[in-house]
Amino acid sequence: MRVLVVGGGGREHAICWALSKSPRISKLYCAPGNGGISEIAECANIDAKDIGEMVHFAKENADFVVVAPDDPLALGMVDALESAGIRAFGPNKDAARLESSKEYAKGIMKKYDISTAAYSVFSDVDAAKSFIHEHGAPIVVKADGLALGKGVVVAMDIQAALEAVDWMLLDKRFGDSGNSVIIEECMTGPEVTILAFTDGKTIVPMLSSQDHKRAFTGDLGPNTGGMGAFCPSPLYTPEVAEKCMNEIFLPTVKAMQAEGTPFKGVLYFGLMLTPNGPKVVEYNARFGDPEAQPLLTLLKTDLFDIFEAIVDERLHEIDIEWHDGSACCVVLASGGYPEQYETGFEITGLGGMPDGTEVFHAGTVREGDTLQTSGGRVLGVTARGKTLDQATARAYEGIGHISFKNSHHRTDIGRPQKNA
Ligand code: AMP
Ligand code: GLY
Repeated sequence: MRVLVVGGGGREHAICWALSKSPRISKLYCAPGNGGISEIAECANIDAKDIGEMVHFAKENADFVVVAPDDPLALGMVDALESAGIRAFGPNKDAARLESSKEYAKGIMKKYDISTAAYSVFSDVDAAKSFIHEHGAPIVVKADGLALGKGVVVAMDIQAALEAVDWMLLDKRFGDSGNSVIIEECMTGPEVTILAFTDGKTIVPMLSSQDHKRAFTGDLGPNTGGMGAFCPSPLYTPEVAEKCMNEIFLPTVKAMQAEGTPFKGVLYFGLMLTPNGPKVVEYNARFGDPEAQPLLTLLKTDLFDIFEAIVDERLHEIDIEWHDGSACCVVLASGGYPEQYETGFEITGLGGMPDGTEVFHAGTVREGDTLQTSGGRVLGVTARGKTLDQATARAYEGIGHISFKNSHHRTDIGRPQKNA
């Protein structure tokens, strides 16, 4: 089987790493890939959003395509591949709206009684601002569309909320993604991420995980795509899991079926464990990044078998197994990320990682014999361990070997949040 993975970040490296262990895959491609992925897959220099080129390449080279990032899913790459007769893993464009439009996602939750923060939607600046004055702070302002995990402001005072409305609706900091804003009740409680495999009928949650979204140690600074993640989360008890299955996961799968847009792929539930029970913070239509990195290192079952079962709508036939223990991923980023940062710095020290450690590349490129930084998030040092403490210690030991100019990482990844 010839398989093409679309994307070029840490998540795609982890997916390629897991797929490269499948005896069923004879040839693995990744487009565009990156400096690390090129060691295990043949990289094709095609922009992940270029649907025409991707379909053209897949027709010539692949029997099965895994569309991993949010943008091509939102643009309908899976639909285009299917129309060209190519089997593709990932939700169709309509189902991917659970991520690509927060307004749509909130509407689904409201219609099907799935617990989430109370909200209102605005495209008019004055109306948004009066609502903020009426409700007071803390309050949350979100851009409607995709914004690389940066389109959310948890405003602790009214001024910050008013400014967020200005950047999103007036200054168009997020382009068309900010044509409307969602203003939400500010929830409290620790966060847990659940990624789940679903074929539109059956849903199988993976291990629980936790992402660290803020840029700096101590949960300070701006939101990023994620500075590290670990799994499983000690906060996600069997009781919480059962409640989430009955009140959130199954109702979401059924809602998408009832809407005539069944969701097939990986469905990401960002949850907050509030004093009033678990509530949905957000849906994503794909594996989380970096969550995919620790999760996939603990997956025992052949990932390709799972992908194929989802595409064929027979997920109920597969028994999905996980290794015992924990895994932790610490992201090494370019100094300045998620704002301005420089790239093109040489990365050294990747040899000699501790046992049970994989270094997934996010923003790297090979230049001759050297490996250089090429993005905001550069590497995800991902370690397994019998316990979370062991996994975390190993990941940090690995980090200690690696260097590049202006490198930045958090020092508290792997510590579960007490409160948020
Ligand atoms: P999102 O991109 O929607 O996941 O939001 C990014 C982060 O903002 C979340 O992980 C939360 O930490 C925070 N957040 C989003 N919505 C809320 C909310 N309604 N109440 C409190 N925090 C929130
Ligand atoms: N780590 C958060 C995300 O993938 O959206």
